[in-house]
Amino acid sequence: MAERRVEFCALLVVGLLMGCSFMGLLSEATYVLSSIQEYPNKQGFEAELELIQHTTNLTLGPDITPLHFIVRLEEGSRVHIYISDYSNSRWEVPYSLIPRPKVYAETTTTTTTTTTKDNGPNLLAISYTKKPFGFAITRISNGEVLFNSTPIAAESSSSSIFNAMVFKDQYLEISTQLPNTARLFGLGESTRPDGLKLPHNQTSTLFATDTGAVNVNVDLYGSYPYYIDVREKGVAHGVLLLNSNGMDVTYSLDGTSLTFRVVGGIFDFYFFPGPSAKAVVAQYTQLVGRPAPMPYWSFGFHQCRWGYRNVSMDRYVVEHFKEANIPLDTMWNDIDYMDEYKDFTTDPIQFPIPELRAFVDELHENGQHYVMIIDPGISIAYSDYGTLNRGLKDDIFLKNQNGENYIGQVWPGPVYFPDFLNPKTTQWWTNEVAIFHNQIPFDGLWIDMNEISNFCTGTYCSWNGSIFGGDTTCYLDCTLTRTKFDDPPYRINHYGDYADIGYKTIAMTVQHYNGALEYNTHNLYGFTESIATNTAITKVRNKRAFVLARSTFLGSGAHTAHWTGDNGATFDDLAYSITTILTSGLEGVPMVGADICGYAGNGTEELCNRWIQTGAFYPFSRAHSNIQNMPKELYIWKSVTLSAQRALGLRYRLLPYFYTLNYEAHISGYPIARALFFVFPDDPITLDVSYQFLIGDSILVSPVVTSNVTSVTAYFPKGSWYNLFDLSRIDSHGSWFKLAAPLEVVNVHVYEGSIVPMQESALTSTLVRKSPFTLLVVFSTDESKLTATGELFLDSGDDIVIGIEQGKSSFITFIAKVEGGCGILKSQVVEGDYAKEQGWIIETIMILGLDKLPNSVSINSVSVTSSIHITLTKDIPSLELSRLKLYVGESFELEWK
Ligand SMILES: *[C@@H]1O[C@H](CO)[C@@H](O)[C@H](O)[C@H]1NC(C)=O
Ligand SMILES: *[C@@H]1O[C@H](CO)[C@@H](O)[C@H](O)[C@H]1NC(C)=O
Ligand SMILES: *[C@@H]1O[C@H](CO)[C@@H](O)[C@H](O)[C@H]1NC(C)=O
Ligand SMILES: *[C@@H]1O[C@H](CO)[C@@H](O)[C@H](O)[C@H]1NC(C)=O
Ligand SMILES: *[C@@H]1O[C@H](CO)[C@@H](O)[C@H](O)[C@H]1NC(C)=O
Repeated sequence: MAERRVEFCALLVVGLLMGCSFMGLLSEATYVLSSIQEYPNKQGFEAELELIQHTTNLTLGPDITPLHFIVRLEEGSRVHIYISDYSNSRWEVPYSLIPRPKVYAETTTTTTTTTTKDNGPNLLAISYTKKPFGFAITRISNGEVLFNSTPIAAESSSSSIFNAMVFKDQYLEISTQLPNTARLFGLGESTRPDGLKLPHNQTSTLFATDTGAVNVNVDLYGSYPYYIDVREKGVAHGVLLLNSNGMDVTYSLDGTSLTFRVVGGIFDFYFFPGPSAKAVVAQYTQLVGRPAPMPYWSFGFHQCRWGYRNVSMDRYVVEHFKEANIPLDTMWNDIDYMDEYKDFTTDPIQFPIPELRAFVDELHENGQHYVMIIDPGISIAYSDYGTLNRGLKDDIFLKNQNGENYIGQVWPGPVYFPDFLNPKTTQWWTNEVAIFHNQIPFDGLWIDMNEISNFCTGTYCSWNGSIFGGDTTCYLDCTLTRTKFDDPPYRINHYGDYADIGYKTIAMTVQHYNGALEYNTHNLYGFTESIATNTAITKVRNKRAFVLARSTFLGSGAHTAHWTGDNGATFDDLAYSITTILTSGLEGVPMVGADICGYAGNGTEELCNRWIQTGAFYPFSRAHSNIQNMPKELYIWKSVTLSAQRALGLRYRLLPYFYTLNYEAHISGYPIARALFFVFPDDPITLDVSYQFLIGDSILVSPVVTSNVTSVTAYFPKGSWYNLFDLSRIDSHGSWFKLAAPLEVVNVHVYEGSIVPMQESALTSTLVRKSPFTLLVVFSTDESKLTATGELFLDSGDDIVIGIEQGKSSFITFIAKVEGGCGILKSQVVEGDYAKEQGWIIETIMILGLDKLPNSVSINSVSVTSSIHITLTKDIPSLELSRLKLYVGESFELEWK
């Protein structure tokens, strides 16, 4: 094979001039770049990539040539790189699912629309090599190369560290050089025993799979071909490959490269400039969709179990929560409630509609809520099943290659699967949800099994008429073909053992709307079902939807909440839940939680105790367990009851804070539960903290996630932190502290500079909403940092649209300053009418971190004396004002001297 010199040229796109140079020698060239066309508006260019030498190994199929290489500078200073077949269109993530600027539509329109768009200052530059083709993305401010697909010779040998780009029908490969100091996060969904940061020498396989979350380092329910790369000084950027095909993403042993190997679609890359991790998530969610606002009640505690076999058991559980004085907002039912596991039916003996309805009405009267599970498979075993018959009439089910409805087997036995890519399916689904909601006024839907999970594997399956609902062994008669889709030339590391990609899901040849193949759309099924379900619930209830989905994709957060799936009742599962939840947040799905106390396995009292101490602070806080194991309701054990009261008690007091973060997530994309490096980008130690998390920027949770210990070693970034239970203070220079953590204790600290709105704890969020507010103001002990700020967003909690609107919501910012013993706290009401109408008042203001005790206090220039309660906590002066009556919806000024 001829050795070729690499010609390196850079194109001036954004004012960054690079000369031509020559790099190392390579043994294999593939594409060369030609016919560059720059757009007159300076917003990008396009070119042709022509194959000059085939890859030597053609077992993965012939190379495609020529390719179209399109570069766009888009909104939010992101760079879009699009590489596809020049001559034939290929599968792309549908624009209907993730609306975004169309590459082809835009080239044909005049430039006026693109030039008037303000994309902000360019932060990233793109350059390329012509021969062989490669491209690089550089941060303009410091010249750092962020992504570079140009292979270079490894220092010690003549071979390069990775191949040049490969583009075949069923195999796409591209790599980037990385400095081995880069820290990558993302590429979920997978349970990661090595912590939050992606470890070197590891492949992340992305293919939606019904594999229990107990399995580590394998492809799980969701697929996120997206990562955040944190470089020196915490400067971060994001890389998204918008592609729904199965893939392996391999981080090399020495950490100097990352390789994508994809079984189809196109290279549709987006580069987000950051420069903070938060900004990356904002830029990424601007493209894939901002997180859906969640209803207020969904921030309360949820109880679920597969095994609540009748309405009496549901009622028993709800009553026992109340008796035990443990908050409970939402009761759930798993598949137990269904009649023969048919969607939109209830068991006439165990869950007769009048009885279930009466129970749900009682929940509502008590300010509680009810959520039910539904699965995508629609039973075909009963000729009088309306949901099936209406679906058949609308012809909305997935089809075999021969045009017949594809038969799978799930809980109800033989089923057809709705095709949520078909717009007609959403109408049918909405109608089914409406009919069912008319019978049982549920508040949200839980959509499970949507990877799609199938108990059979087969291209064509037939059913002989015998009904065995609930049987997880395949009893359909299935034949398996080995087409290039069932058995693609490149095998991803599915299930961690290179299993067939059609194993226990639907056949890869199944046809969706407009002939789209399951092979291409597989990773999108749960996403499309989430969109349809959100649409249906919103329409039927005319309120903000609550959907909980197992299988998710880029953009799912705009429609659904997520839980981490079938975990186990072990301390490892508890620990790993934190990394999965933090990863979900940075992938744009902030409303996320893990099954508290563990789904599978019995676990122990100690485990459940530690789990509620952690799970009480998950954005989505739900306990759930498996029918095969013993019940684990929090009230069963004394120690767990006590911890639940304490931990959930604090969560409920923090509900206004959680809800303000829900609003912020929707507006900006920021996660609710944040990794420490999101909030402390200047502190490199935070990049290695995997088992603590922040709620917003202010509250740090440092739970015990190991057994048999009475202390926890936790990292505290520089500054003062106050324990929210006893107000004890930690002054950190950025170090690890060993904190006492006896069984009944979880460590939760609030950071200096924060103003946290709180209410009174109660057994439901409905009651919390009626209680008076407390403002917790926390000053630094560092003389140079003397301000504290906070925000509060309030609305009805379940209006469809969330936003600042007169009469419908209130938004208040708080700012406090202290200097030389004098201080001021101001509320700035951006919109106050709604809060005034609700009569919300601030009754207590607690100020921590004053350097001396004030002599006088005034509110709106009127001096207050009788109610001042001045305390000393561990020789830290703190000021508590109680029995106040300040309207939340009216600005005020509090001064002290
Ligand atoms: C890298 O990963 C491979 C495959 O999992 C494994 O066999 C090998 O031991 C790993 N190497 C190191 C140095 O960890
Ligand atoms: C509900 O189910 C439980 C568990 O199977 C059973 O013990 C109980 O008798 C049932 N209650 C009713 C009213 O059917
Ligand atoms: C249908 O198939 C099941 C499973 O193979 C078998 O047990 C059953 O007898 C069959 N029923 C009929 C009517 O053939
Ligand atoms: C789990 O608990 C159930 C019910 O109490 C019991 O039948 C089962 O044996 C337990 N399993 C294990 C593995 O201990
Ligand atoms: C927990 O500690 C006790 C006493 O030190 C010991 O007997 C027990 O084996 C430990 N359990 C585990 C799971 O480590």
